[in-house]
Amino acid sequence: MSSTGYTRSKGFADMFPPESDNFTRMENCAREIFGRYGFVELRTPLVEYTELFQRSIGAETDVVQKEMYTFPDRKGRSLTLRPEATAGVMRAYIESGLHAREPVSRLFTTGPMFRYERPQKGRMRQFHQINCECLGTQSPLADAELIGMLMSFLGALGLGELTLKLNSLGCAECRPRFTQALLDYLRSVDPAGLCPDCARRAKSNPLRVLDCKQPGCRALTDNAPKLLEYTCPECKAHFETVLGLLRAEDLPLELDHRLVRGLDYYCRTTFEVVSGSIGAQSAVAGGGRYDGLVKSLGGPDVPGVGFACGMERLALLLGGAPARGLDFYVLALDESGQAQAFDLARKLRAQGLAGEMNFSTAGFKSRMRQAGKSGARFCLIIGPDEAAQGAVTVKNLNNGEQTGMPQADAIHYLVNGKSND
Ligand code: HAM
Repeated sequence: MSSTGYTRSKGFADMFPPESDNFTRMENCAREIFGRYGFVELRTPLVEYTELFQRSIGAETDVVQKEMYTFPDRKGRSLTLRPEATAGVMRAYIESGLHAREPVSRLFTTGPMFRYERPQKGRMRQFHQINCECLGTQSPLADAELIGMLMSFLGALGLGELTLKLNSLGCAECRPRFTQALLDYLRSVDPAGLCPDCARRAKSNPLRVLDCKQPGCRALTDNAPKLLEYTCPECKAHFETVLGLLRAEDLPLELDHRLVRGLDYYCRTTFEVVSGSIGAQSAVAGGGRYDGLVKSLGGPDVPGVGFACGMERLALLLGGAPARGLDFYVLALDESGQAQAFDLARKLRAQGLAGEMNFSTAGFKSRMRQAGKSGARFCLIIGPDEAAQGAVTVKNLNNGEQTGMPQADAIHYLVNGKSND
């Protein structure tokens, strides 16, 4: 608690309009676009047993090592606030037996995730993802369909100037050969050139050295072996098909041999969508294929591919949301008109119009200013004379025109006005 009262915890945000409006807009857009591809919504708990994340994301990853909110419940079992959605979706998929009921499942989920990271622009401790998973097929068509869907979604939000970065991480067959070559290479360079994190990773998780942002590490890995040079014929063919399909869609794609992703479950296709205009935290979405994941969690051998978008980062690109679009703002000059104003507002809403009532009876001028600020198209005013006659003054707040009419006519006037818009 600060000296001025309670405050938010660092890295956690309250969200007012326009940001909250932008979030609603993103979710609605996602539902519409993903629905066209047969995706259905799954809602999973915010809390899972810690082991699930250790097992799926990988015990050596930064997320598991440093970033999870983990705590014991009252019986001493270790619980964790979800740092991402995929693990919980896999658990739900296996636990519900969905795999036995349909050969391919397309699931999306949205909501808050939690990672104890150093907060900065576009990086929060509580952040929100829109997450999609397509389970049950190894086909490269699924990868291309999913990535195409992600790009359609971002396009529908009006976001341009994005780059789609792609790589293939190979499979259990070919990746160990690459990892060995990378280890040999890292042993051959001067370890003093690596940042402390990478000096450690060079032994425990060498792939992550490739995507370190430190200039020293980048320079040292410029000539490191490249994953795509080590992929087996099957992985190569898979990736070529994905690339061919995406190129045919004319997507802004770029191959990036450093794209290894920070979570351990990936194989084959990995991708990120980055923006050049939101600062250091430039990835607005990331994902890839994870064919061994369901099996490693005790489920059947079901392959999958998915992605998640970071909603806070998308909101940075969206800017201001459109105005609220109120149709009316009702006010009574004094108490004699209040019940009628209240009833008129109710009837207008029943006709599908949106509006607010001002409950005060004091300060007409200031209330008219509030009406103007509300962004409503019409202000409906009921004074004592109007109240006596069941009438209302309708003021068009866009052009200032004002007319009196029976309250029943005002309903038609506004409803017709709306349909003529
Ligand atoms: P991720 O790359 O860790 O992947 O996160 C996906 C996106 O979430 C990032 O590209 C970023 O936009 C956003 N994000 C991550 N951390 C933060 C943060 N601290 N603050 C704000 N935004 C953040 C995953 O989470 C995988 N589960 C994606 C996936 C789904 N792969 C397969 N299926």
